[in-house]
Amino acid sequence: MGRRDGGRCRAGEPVRVPTVERFLVTGGARLAGTVEVAGAKNSVLKLMAAALLAEGTTTISNCPEILDVPLMADVLRGLGAEVVIEGDTVVITTPAELSHHADFPAVGRLRASVCVLGPLMGRCRRAEVALPGGDAIGSRPLDMHQSGLRAMGATMNIEHGKVVGRASSLHGASIGLDFPSVGATENILMAAVLADGTTIIDNAAREPEIIDLAQLLAQMGARIDGVGTATITIEGVDPVFMTAPLERLSRAGAQIDTEQDAVTVTMAERPRAVDFITMPYPGFPTDLQPMALALAAVADGHSLITENVFEARFRFVDELIRMGADARTDGHHASLRGREQLSSAPVWSTDIRAGAGLVLAGLAAEGVTEVHEVMHIDRGYPHFVEDLQKLGGQIERVG
Ligand code: UD1
Repeated sequence: MGRRDGGRCRAGEPVRVPTVERFLVTGGARLAGTVEVAGAKNSVLKLMAAALLAEGTTTISNCPEILDVPLMADVLRGLGAEVVIEGDTVVITTPAELSHHADFPAVGRLRASVCVLGPLMGRCRRAEVALPGGDAIGSRPLDMHQSGLRAMGATMNIEHGKVVGRASSLHGASIGLDFPSVGATENILMAAVLADGTTIIDNAAREPEIIDLAQLLAQMGARIDGVGTATITIEGVDPVFMTAPLERLSRAGAQIDTEQDAVTVTMAERPRAVDFITMPYPGFPTDLQPMALALAAVADGHSLITENVFEARFRFVDELIRMGADARTDGHHASLRGREQLSSAPVWSTDIRAGAGLVLAGLAAEGVTEVHEVMHIDRGYPHFVEDLQKLGGQIERVG
């Protein structure tokens, strides 16, 4: 396994060097109150990539204030775009001529950087994109991204650590994905906008971020011929997208009240154990699996959690076990017998979602849990500490 981040050794075992910045989470306080749902990381990063498709200025509002947004901005700047971030607004000005080389340190720091591949193939008919980094949650090959673009007439190869694409022209194609990959769907969509003819993607991903992207592309379609300005307003996540997670929470004993723009969740007593199976949308999302594990760790009874999307996503179960969770994993399955209470321990975030799951576990644990490597959490969640504090959670950022 390649060395992905500074805190892990080659064998994938965590090196437990205390980090300067960490969260101190004190368990026991009852959480109640209201927090605002921020714009989604997996939407905004793709919308930023889509801005490359049209010369001119694209303004994206309601962007979450997370570390990945400035990282993506660096990727776009490296391609020749101007990016200004002001609070929750990102303004991207795309020039007539783009560089097709996305080959600089920023690309390696986030998975979403691979989403410039489709726009570059569409705009430049050439792309050289360094293989992206991101969370170590399992292998993330690009075979479907490449085969989709090949079907449209491009030559695609992995060369010297980059995905390299060339096309004299791009034509529409009928493309069937083996798996509804979010990233592959996005790249094919973005290249297809500027291809000749009609492209059909079968088995395309249906995640909410694909819908956001498709809406933006529809708006940009009218303007691609000239110097265009696309203005997007990203609304918060509609509770209707949360059907599977809310249904599981309800089975665990929560009372759920949904309104147009809000959802109220009340858990009056200890949650009941429920099983979770991650699946592509509209199934239970893999990105909420660590939170499901935290719930299962304190639920009343036995839970079986099945991960179908990323094979290495159970790595953080070891951290939960350090907090006293009665858990074991076997391949795609994690089996947990809930304990009444977890106990605090120093724990290390292994990726964005695992970090958030550990904080939730810390909130349900006795004592003060130190969550290290919080930059993972900062990459994906704006105002994470502040929002939990608003709900009455005892959490502070130190260091
Ligand atoms: C995106 C999200 C991530 C989320 C995931 C699934 C971003 C930046 N990340 O990741 O938070 O967990 O969707 O909802 O948006 N695969 C292949 N070949 C390919 C492409 C994918 O085999 O060419 C496999 C992957 O190894 C994985 C599965 O397909 O097992 C799902 O991957 P995909 O949907 O592409 O996820 P990402 O776009 O990488």
